[in-house]
Amino acid sequence: MDDADQVAAYSYAGRVDGVMSASYLYHSAQISQVISGCKTVLDLGCGPATQLAQIAGLNPEISFLGVDLSGTMIDSGKKYVDQLGLRNVAFQLEDITKLEGIPDASVDAVMSTVVLHHLPTRQHLDDCMAQVARVLKPGGAVYLTDFGRLKSLRSVLFFAYMNAANQPHLFSLDYERSLRAAFLMEDFKEVAGRFLPQSVSVLSTFLVPFLVVIRTPPTALSADLSRRLREMRKGLPSQFRSDLDELRLFCRLGGISPDPFQ
Ligand SMILES: C[S@@+](CC[C@H](N)C(=O)[O-])C[C@H]1O[C@@H](n2cnc3c(N)ncnc32)[C@H](O)[C@@H]1O
Repeated sequence: MDDADQVAAYSYAGRVDGVMSASYLYHSAQISQVISGCKTVLDLGCGPATQLAQIAGLNPEISFLGVDLSGTMIDSGKKYVDQLGLRNVAFQLEDITKLEGIPDASVDAVMSTVVLHHLPTRQHLDDCMAQVARVLKPGGAVYLTDFGRLKSLRSVLFFAYMNAANQPHLFSLDYERSLRAAFLMEDFKEVAGRFLPQSVSVLSTFLVPFLVVIRTPPTALSADLSRRLREMRKGLPSQFRSDLDELRLFCRLGGISPDPFQ
């Protein structure tokens, strides 16, 4: 994703008050549970750093490195974290199927949000997971989330356009393309079993795997972080708060627990 209009549409829709705010807050909470106690976290395909900046703000004691193949995305991410005054985020241009600039066993955790469907083939997914295993320290943490492939075109169109009235048209189109490009749940299970630590689970939303989460076990959040997350949930506009609560329900029923907002 390097086209300036596409980057702008994605960045706009994904900002804190955008249509993706529920999803960002949900993953920020989930990821905070998984990376607790880590010193260094690598974010694969950080894009404009909306997700990354929110997590970095919630976890100021952790250093984050966001990598992306797109220089436009990296520039947008740098500007955003500067605006927010965050000091614990660095950026690097990298292909996540190669990670040439990241040494072996050098990071405590690897995270990634809605990126894997950009990989054009199953071989690229294998290559990416092999790199995750290579750069992760022994016992390191993992939280990778992406869309899962839906069985029917009807479901794809339903999810892609359910918020069409509230988001830029380019964003809806990109969402549809992303859902069509997603890997199957079976692919995620197979690559995770082959490359990732045994402690990793592959989970998905209840009934329809529109969201897949590959993660190491979560730990309890500090009381302060739990309180901040609950306040952030309350501060969402009511429509986005119901989106978040729906997502929490579908994830919890699918086995993605504990729920960090409870
Ligand atoms: C949908 S955006 C997600 C951005 C961010 N993770 C988020 O949650 O908002 C996908 C990002 O993956 C990046 N990307 C796609 N293929 C990549 C690759 N092979 N290596 C590195 N980044 C890649 C794109 O440039 C884009 O910034």
